[in-house]
Order: sequence, then structure tokens, then C-alpha cells
Amino acid sequence: MSIFAERLNRLGTETAFEVLAKAKALEREGREIIHLEIGEPDFDTPENIKEAAIKALKEGYTHYVSAAGILELREAIAEYISESRGIDAEPEEVVVTPGAKPIIFFSILACVNPGEEVMYPNPGFPIYESVINFVGGKPVPIPLKEERDFRMDPEDLVENITEKTKMIILNSPHNPTGGVLESGDLELLADAVKDRDDIIILSDEVYCKILYEGSHVSIASISGMKDKTIILDGFSKTYAMTGWRIGYGVMRRDLAEKITRLMVNSNSCTCAFIQMAGVEALKGPQDSVGRMVNEFKRRRDVIVSGLNGIEGISCRKPKGAFYVFPNVKGLEIDCRELSDFLLNKAGVAVLPGTSFGKYGDGYIRLSYANSVENLEKAIERMSEALEEIQ
Ligand SMILES: Cc1ncc(COP(=O)(O)O)c(C=O)c1O
Repeated sequence: MSIFAERLNRLGTETAFEVLAKAKALEREGREIIHLEIGEPDFDTPENIKEAAIKALKEGYTHYVSAAGILELREAIAEYISESRGIDAEPEEVVVTPGAKPIIFFSILACVNPGEEVMYPNPGFPIYESVINFVGGKPVPIPLKEERDFRMDPEDLVENITEKTKMIILNSPHNPTGGVLESGDLELLADAVKDRDDIIILSDEVYCKILYEGSHVSIASISGMKDKTIILDGFSKTYAMTGWRIGYGVMRRDLAEKITRLMVNSNSCTCAFIQMAGVEALKGPQDSVGRMVNEFKRRRDVIVSGLNGIEGISCRKPKGAFYVFPNVKGLEIDCRELSDFLLNKAGVAVLPGTSFGKYGDGYIRLSYANSVENLEKAIERMSEALEEIQ
């Protein structure tokens, strides 16, 4: 008999960390690797945010705090969400967590019973499917289409709604494709679920500030949708704070209480002095965000044109996030083998599209959160290596 609970067999993972480990092993052998596998800004956290954390640490924010989050931070988040999404969010509707990721875990755990259906983008952030399976829910992957610039088709969502549908996960701007939903898409979906009190939308908006065209739209902003939506947002991507571990969810009060109970049972609370740095991130100067986004845009253009110059690869220009998801079907090699080949031969770490679900087959994901110099070098090395197999 195994010491492991049966449910662990249903828990997936994030391949990015496995590829990172392989890349690190090659680096220990003396190889120089360009890291385009991990989804985190390469910029440093802005100085004012670091200073706020140090100040809070010195002021004694070193103890347990409220499980839902320090009131001052929840007020700042409620204010930011109210302004940016055009809704009335209250501090009682906010739950602060160590990173935004636990909001995915807790929301699915809190809402989805075994056998209930959850729709989610595929390719998509692998944690959605992993946690749906973990709780015994029924995954209903919604394929994203390259010809729509990977913008989820709301018709596909509407067609797949059944009486067993419990949750619909949206992610815009989208990881791994950079696809962005438009307000018409969200209106269509909102219309289809407005009379279903038993359906909740998990709207993963963690990349909402990393947008190169237009402005971010949240389904929660549509009339009647606020209480049917869990908005997931955070600090990791917007303020280059991945290692700090802080994020949050905004949802109706009764659900916020349940998610807070999951916090009590798991983390007790999010680190106190980091929450105070979160207040500074939201209330302090925002110019670093604009600078970072401009730089990402420059890099996006470099990597998209570089990839399109390689025979057998074609790459759409994403509207948001910091990933490209080029089609590699023309290379006639399995995308997993291609990723291994690019790592071993070209010293460029990328992820196979299948790391993001079965509909990611035939694609690879590259994060362009790296310098232009490294991106250019990566393209050069990839092209040279690929000449060998063409
Ligand atoms: C789509 C998406 N949602 C959520 C997260 C989690 O963010 P955090 O680092 O704040 O937990 C990520 C991180 O990569 C992501 O890509």
C-alpha cells in the first residue's frame, strides 16, 4: 500500500520549473543558457516598494495579522479594483494570499464539487486543470484558436454550458499566448450565465497591466456580473514581485469568508511586512509599471520578427502579457522534442506548448522577459541549430 493519498495522482504540475531545473543542471556543467522558460519580469522590484517593506519590518510588522489581509491593504485593493474595473468593491470582499496562485486553488476547492464541470482555456495556465482534477471536478477545456489570435471564442463557452457547469475560468491577458478578450466576448458570456446563480466566473487578471493595445476589460464590470465573479489579481507581474509572494482575490462577501477560512487552515495569513509593501505598490508612484510595459513591447517586437524569420516557425503578435506562442508545426518535430533540442543544442530554454494542455501541441512558449540582447542571441542560436534539422 502506498503512503500517498489517492488524490495526489490527480495533481498536475507546472513544467516551467522542471525545464528550469534541466537548464540549471546544464549551467552547472558550464553551458550558457538563455532563459525564456520562466514567466517572471526580469526587472527589479521598484525601490519605493522595497523601502516600504524594510520600514514595515522595522516598525514591527512581524506578527500574525488578519487571515483575510491587513485592513489597510484590503482598503487599498478595494479602491484600486473599484477604480480600475468601475465597480464598488469593499474591503470585506478582498482576500489577500501569498501570491495570486492560491486564489486559483482556494476558489476551485471552495466552489467545485466532484463531477461538476469547469471550463478553462486550453492552452492555458496548467494549474487550472491540475486543481480541477485534484478536487474531482470535470475539466472542460476550451480550445483557443490561433486564427483568433488565441482570443477565447465566447460561442465555445456558451455552447459548452450544461446543468453541471459550476465554474468558468477566464484569463486575459492570457498565459501562454498573450491573447486578450474583448468587451463583446465578455458581454456574450455574461448574457449566457446571468440567470445561472450556480455558476461562478474565475477571472484571472494577473496580467491586466501588461497590455500593449486598448484597455483591460473585466467581466466583473458588466452589469450584474460583479457578484458572479472572482477577480484574481496581484503584484507579481505588475510590480515585478514574483518572489515576494503576494496576490489577492476580490469576490462576494460570503465567498470571501469561505476563502478566508481556507487561508486560516493553510497559511494563517500572508506575510505582514510584505502586505505593507503592497500598500505602497498600489498607492505609490506607478511610473515604473509604464516603463516596464514599454520595454516589454519593444522586446515583443524583436522576438516576433526574429521568430517569423526562422523557416518553419510562424508567430502572431500578442496584445498582452510577456509571452509568445509561435506555431512550430512547419518544423515537423514534436514540440516536446523541439524544446529539448533547443535547450541542449542551442542553449535556449523554452516550454513545449503541451505544457499548457493538449491543444498547445504544435507550439512552443517563449517568455520575452529578458534583455533585447539575449532575445537576439536566442533567435540567432535557434536559427543556427534548426538549420540542422531542416
Ligand atoms: C495566468 C496566471 N495566473 C496566476 C499566476 C500566479 O501568480 P503569482 O506568482 O502571483 O502566484 C500566474 C503566474 O505565472 C499566471 O501566469
